[in-house]
Amino acid sequence: MGPAAASRAIVVGIQSGAGLPVPGPSDIRAVRDRCVYFLGISGYFHDSAVALFRDGCVLSCVEEERFTREKHTGDFPRHAIAWTLARHGLDMSDLDEVGFYARPWNLLIGRTLRALRYFPASLEDLTTRDPGKALGVFGISRSLRDGAFPARRPAGFRLRYLDHHLTHAASAFLPSPFEHAAVLGIDGAGEDITTWFGEGRGGRVERRQCIRLPHSLGLFYSAVTHYLGFKPWGGEGKVMGLASYGDPDRYYAAMRELVHWTDDGGLRLDMRYFAYHLSNWRRWTTPRFEERFGPARAPESEMTRHAEDIAAALQRVVEEAALAMVRHLHGLVPSPNLCLAGGVALNSVMNGRIAREGPFENIFIQPAANDAGTALGAGLVLAHLRHGLPRQHEQSLVYLGPDFDDAACEAAARAAGLRIERRADVVEYTAERLAAGEIVGWFQGKMEVGPRALGNRSILADPRGPEMKDTINLRVKHREPFRPFAPSVLAEAAGDWFTGARESPHMLLVFPVRPERRAEVPAITHVDGTARVQTVRREDNARYYALIDAFGRRTGVPMLLNTSFNVRGEPIVGTPEDAVRCFTGTQMDLLVLGDLVCRKA
Ligand SMILES: [Fe+2]
Repeated sequence: MGPAAASRAIVVGIQSGAGLPVPGPSDIRAVRDRCVYFLGISGYFHDSAVALFRDGCVLSCVEEERFTREKHTGDFPRHAIAWTLARHGLDMSDLDEVGFYARPWNLLIGRTLRALRYFPASLEDLTTRDPGKALGVFGISRSLRDGAFPARRPAGFRLRYLDHHLTHAASAFLPSPFEHAAVLGIDGAGEDITTWFGEGRGGRVERRQCIRLPHSLGLFYSAVTHYLGFKPWGGEGKVMGLASYGDPDRYYAAMRELVHWTDDGGLRLDMRYFAYHLSNWRRWTTPRFEERFGPARAPESEMTRHAEDIAAALQRVVEEAALAMVRHLHGLVPSPNLCLAGGVALNSVMNGRIAREGPFENIFIQPAANDAGTALGAGLVLAHLRHGLPRQHEQSLVYLGPDFDDAACEAAARAAGLRIERRADVVEYTAERLAAGEIVGWFQGKMEVGPRALGNRSILADPRGPEMKDTINLRVKHREPFRPFAPSVLAEAAGDWFTGARESPHMLLVFPVRPERRAEVPAITHVDGTARVQTVRREDNARYYALIDAFGRRTGVPMLLNTSFNVRGEPIVGTPEDAVRCFTGTQMDLLVLGDLVCRKA
């Protein structure tokens, strides 16, 4: 954006607000002769991330876990900030505003009021809090100016603490293709709000209604996830995969009694069964839960029919509650368009039901629907809601992370002693090897944001082999056998393979595989006949599209099995060194780094 446009942005910014205090002249410093930089930060609890905007355009977004290699880390995103500044040749003094994804005072007041309300049962919550963590949130501004990051001159940015669910909603609506949409944010909790019903129109996003703690569809799912022996804040996707194996009827009635919803957007959990709000998230369920549903499953223990049936009942109840929510939201905001965000919006089976059975014609789901995406949301709130910059519909929300040139890729491969071949026909060659049954590590361009690998940090394989799922699990991923693998399919061919398919560029919708085609693609067909689909358009990722197309020309199947480039428990690989380490530590056949084809010596 040139000086004239930047000047216009500032004038518009003084006029706008969208439910926020209208910024006065002192809030917007003299930046007329240059671009305006906004930094969005999420972190301190889980899924820390950083997004950088120049004027209204996102330049990059990256999660801290990709640097520290600790999955879902909630650490202050020190590495992500340092990379972001270095990547764009900036320092702290170039930033105009920094947005943080939560309001610590709201958090503190909400928790204190809850502790008083449930006292003395809440004693554990009061005595186990980490005051250092709370102070850390209040001290963000100081952390950003403490000399850890470069600054040519004293940094003059203004730090703004933002409403958590507003950042979710902004991340869902403002990058969407819609001029008007209903917006639903569902997560565990942000400050004390757990479900956010709202409306987006033009450059504005506003809340219409909300549900507050302790009543939370996300925390209900997390609590049962914990009961089933998986980690909350990350293991929910495993439970979703497990649910397809179970009989939902066996525990449905009992599970349904724990959750009450009403047609007017109300939600209440039977809190006699849950303890997260009393225990600083140390205990999730009360003994009453085990009395009702049986003993909890120990982590890493053998999978049982009981666990599968509990997961199935949980999944069905959550889907029904979410359908009631979207129907209510459609009454509040009668639009054909729905935008979804919040950690619960990563539940692609639920999203598929909302798409098929809900009242909305079109759905847009942010790829980083979890809290990582609120870094994007924070930047979007500053750029558009606070300063009124025009929305940018066409920018990619996916490929926003680090990329590496050929020299860096080659150096990493050589350091590991790999056999390297540079091929001009790398796409055709890789398609050939995939069709021959090889498992390929595919490392290209800018890293994806969010938990799904979408064709730049992916492990790819032929979806046709009935044994491919087990082969990948045995030789590469080492993950739970009940978890399905997902397909990437050319967007124009999706309808030939999946019933009711619609655009799903972020792999966040599940569709049934057409019954007559299931035998052709057994490696991506889940036990219940469904698949979590990524539809790929040429304009979104030209090289990945070309690869799937080349595979389709050879096999008649225009799709690939796509799983994230990592092993179980690790974040997706970030650098060529990470990719090489993952490749050499597993029995993958081929590693493709840009145009370099690498094999083990
Ligand atoms: Fe959230």
